[in-house]
Amino acid sequence: MSSIRTWLFGAALAAAASVSALGVSGAARAQGAPDGQAIYETRCKACHDGGNPRAPSRADLGQRAPADIVAALTSGIMQPMAAGLSDADKQAVAAYLTASGAQGGGGGGGRQARPTGTEMPQVEIKNGVVGTDPMCTTNSPIKPGPADWSNMGVNPNNDRFQRNPGLTAADVSKLKVKWSFSMTGGGQPAVVGDWLWVTNRSGKFYALDTKTGCVHWAVNDLVSRTTPMIVKSTLAPSGWATFISQSNKIVRAFDAQTGKELWRSEMLEAHPSSVLTGTPMIAGDRLIVPISSIEEASAMAKTYSCCTFRGSVAALDLKTGKLLWKTPMIDAPLQTIRDKEGGGKVQGPAGAAVWAAPTVDMKRGLVYAVTGDSYTDINENGSDSIVALDLKTGKFKWRRQVTEKDNFVMGCGPTGPSGNCPTPLGPDYDFGAPPILMTIAGGKQVLLAGQKSGIVYGLNPDTGALLWKTIVGAGSALGGVEWGMGADDKNLYVPISDLVYLFNPATKDKGKAGVYALNPADGKIVWSAPAPDAPCVYASDKGKPSRCAKAQPAAPAVIPGLVFEGGLDGWLRAYDSKTGKIVWADSTTSRTYDTVNGIKGQPGGGFDGMGPTIANGMMFVTSGNNGAARVGSNGVNVLLAYSVDGK
Ligand code: HEC
Repeated sequence: MSSIRTWLFGAALAAAASVSALGVSGAARAQGAPDGQAIYETRCKACHDGGNPRAPSRADLGQRAPADIVAALTSGIMQPMAAGLSDADKQAVAAYLTASGAQGGGGGGGRQARPTGTEMPQVEIKNGVVGTDPMCTTNSPIKPGPADWSNMGVNPNNDRFQRNPGLTAADVSKLKVKWSFSMTGGGQPAVVGDWLWVTNRSGKFYALDTKTGCVHWAVNDLVSRTTPMIVKSTLAPSGWATFISQSNKIVRAFDAQTGKELWRSEMLEAHPSSVLTGTPMIAGDRLIVPISSIEEASAMAKTYSCCTFRGSVAALDLKTGKLLWKTPMIDAPLQTIRDKEGGGKVQGPAGAAVWAAPTVDMKRGLVYAVTGDSYTDINENGSDSIVALDLKTGKFKWRRQVTEKDNFVMGCGPTGPSGNCPTPLGPDYDFGAPPILMTIAGGKQVLLAGQKSGIVYGLNPDTGALLWKTIVGAGSALGGVEWGMGADDKNLYVPISDLVYLFNPATKDKGKAGVYALNPADGKIVWSAPAPDAPCVYASDKGKPSRCAKAQPAAPAVIPGLVFEGGLDGWLRAYDSKTGKIVWADSTTSRTYDTVNGIKGQPGGGFDGMGPTIANGMMFVTSGNNGAARVGSNGVNVLLAYSVDGK
């Protein structure tokens, strides 16, 4: 999933980059200072000026902090594109793109102590714009509320159904933004009582007050987009603990009330392209951690010998962080496929990254995980699969591959062969959404999985047998089900992205962006709500034609009677869960926000990633892409806290 998942790489990966000095004009070098524009034009423009639908536009890149761009080139997804560029070259192209030349961004190390008195720590938000963390003046202890949302999917079965939201259907028309908070994209917030926890990709892990957005504490060196699960635990002195997967391959445990670190795991994966993107889930005395990679991007480079990464699921001891087991999703031995022209080799099988949070089934003693595409053309049976693992041993109980030979790496289109492209090239139909374990009439259970192909599968959780499959979306690399689905006691709710179609006038009407309700017993479509054409502008478009689109890749949130779903067009909508009728809609991009951390006129953006958190009468959601997809990003998110009448 190359495409949409990679997102966070602070100072993560050990760069084992091979060097080839293509591209940079000798003239620019000879004059001393490197020429950022020349580097952009020779090395970046072909993809970033519209040549590659996955690549953020030139304007979107300009919205980022220069340090973000340098990090992408040094240790992030663009590392292969920067082979042979010096640090000065990278800084020059970053300065050219952002046009401000400002340096900085990213986080310093260490925990930020809760300051005394009125001391306010300063935080760079983007392009040298400095915000201020408004520290809380009182820090009352964490107390559970009537309706908390303390992990990613509310329930371990990942249905995203808040049964007791503290909001009625009648309240919804009165929802207003009570406060907003600027930060770069991050995870979905978790809420217990009046405390909220949220991670982000520039390295800040925050504990905020839900009533005002003031900061209880912040950890400054934690790049993540996972949801902090909050649990009562004697492990933490305060009695509340939280666990985060950091993108650079370690998991850390904290006291949720003080931010003090309790343990950190060993490095869970040695592959230089691996990352942790999916939220780790608690299963009794252990923590189940999904492991994925950005090797699909590394494979864009001619000098790269693609591919060797295999996705896996690991279990850690909840008390100590010690690794208990780790199961690779592909088990066939690595072999050489062919030698590459000019050196290196193509090898495999590889792929089957585990992007999404797994789903825990304590009753059966199982964990269900879903996998991404294959990176090479060697047959294997681990990619594009739904699997069940024994919680105790990590052994497979069953495996079901739903798409064979989905062999895909990035950059294999018209933008230049790297010598790593598999033949034939697959459609890139990863699974990126957590599966849902749903109980239906008669107490029977169905395991539900949605794929980028636009197909939703209903499986028998005991055996993995396919009960039904329904084609809901048209599917594509950025299509179908991207980040999540929801369910209540009756229906399964399926948001469809189908983004790629929307950018091409010839295919514009083929996509099926929208929200769909399915009967979980047989997969029949109960209602369809195609995404409306609604006014939409991203702040980063700055007068150019907008890449804003009505795709609906984000995960939904479900409450009795309503489904909440955001669009990439910045609209947040509530659907009647019986009929699919839109009963409330709010355009979060049609206004700007003066945020509690001191940024005036902050724009919002498209909804993407993990979707809303509804708890104790409020709704928390990130406008601007959650640090997830690149399309529709303006590099900065605003966390919005909604309450009835903004009270
Ligand atoms: C072969 C096509 C291609 C070339 C050449 C290329 N890029 Fe990219 N770039 C992409 C794609 C595709 C993405 C989106 C990757 C994703 O998020 O899945 C991307 C993403 C990025 C990002 C966002 C990364 C992040 O982690 O948020 C930055 C910054 C970037 N590119 C900068 C550059 C610069 C600077 C150059 C030139 C030195 C360059 N790119 C060359 C295709 C390319």
